[in-house]
Amino acid sequence: MKPIEWLDNKLKIIDQTKLPQTTAFVELSDYHEVVAAIREMKVRGAPAIGVAAAYGIALGAQNIKTESKDRFISQFDQILQAFSVARPTAANLFRTIDRMKKIASTTDDTPIIKQALIDEAKRIHAEEEAATERLSQLGAELIKDGFTILTHCNTGSLATAGYGTALGIIKAAKKQGKKIDVIATETRPLLQGARLTAWELMQENIPATLVTDSMAGYFINQGKVDCVIVGADRIAANGDVANKIGTYTLAVLAAENGIPFYVAAPTSTIDLSLNSGAEIPIEERNPEEVTSIGGVILAPQGIKAANPAFDVTPHRYITAIITEKGIVKEPYGDRMKLI
Ligand code: MRU
Repeated sequence: MKPIEWLDNKLKIIDQTKLPQTTAFVELSDYHEVVAAIREMKVRGAPAIGVAAAYGIALGAQNIKTESKDRFISQFDQILQAFSVARPTAANLFRTIDRMKKIASTTDDTPIIKQALIDEAKRIHAEEEAATERLSQLGAELIKDGFTILTHCNTGSLATAGYGTALGIIKAAKKQGKKIDVIATETRPLLQGARLTAWELMQENIPATLVTDSMAGYFINQGKVDCVIVGADRIAANGDVANKIGTYTLAVLAAENGIPFYVAAPTSTIDLSLNSGAEIPIEERNPEEVTSIGGVILAPQGIKAANPAFDVTPHRYITAIITEKGIVKEPYGDRMKLI
């Protein structure tokens, strides 16, 4: 199953909003559709957003009908602008935009630029595949035989268009022959854990138990969890991590109960331009995602609801950050620059 696939001048993605009830693929032939798919979370997860945006930008460029470099660049900038506001937190999206912008500045020959943008998008995809595979192998070394791992949100192939980050490590540990068990949090409001992680774990035949987010502390405190592993949407230079809302709570719970708290991410998620997590933009989504579940309204009409999609975990709670270039520990400030 390929969650993201480039067909000649079309982008094919699995519609993650329909899973697990329906495995539906959609083909996108216009960049506006790719922007909408990212915003509506048909494609989601920081690395997968970066890959989808790369193909979407290349797709948009193919449809620019001018040979003038100036007019090409002015239309190309509009495409980049549309992607830049699709989802504000995922570092991978902005890394992709920077890379694609650089490619467009290499020559005045627009047909060459168009082809180079497709090639760059394929390169970004291949790099994420390789990085997530490698970090999963490295991270699996931290998992001991018999471990129960608690994970949050969804960080597998769907979220990365590759092997996975936190879930990649879990998959790799199982492949190494270790007996492992997983506790997956449902991840309100959009239930990426219940819908997507549970589905991916079952596909991989990995033993797992689904719990509501509020049950995590109970199981950790009962000694039922050996470590927590999560992914990341953006990592600041000091090691602070923005990830799915609820991650900070899990990190504090892990510290309080003396178990390791690991963050797994490709280096494309690290943003060294930000000194600390306080500078990471946090996406605010529609409050209706909180007042309803699966389109069914559950809260009384008129109630105020808040919906920050991510929170920031201070680096002091993070035992290690696992990347494809190595496993980083405190002091993050000095060591992040080396990877
Ligand atoms: O809002 P989402 O579903 O895009 O959020 C995804 C996460 O928070 C993941 O943990 C993160 O992107 C890492 S995925 C490899």
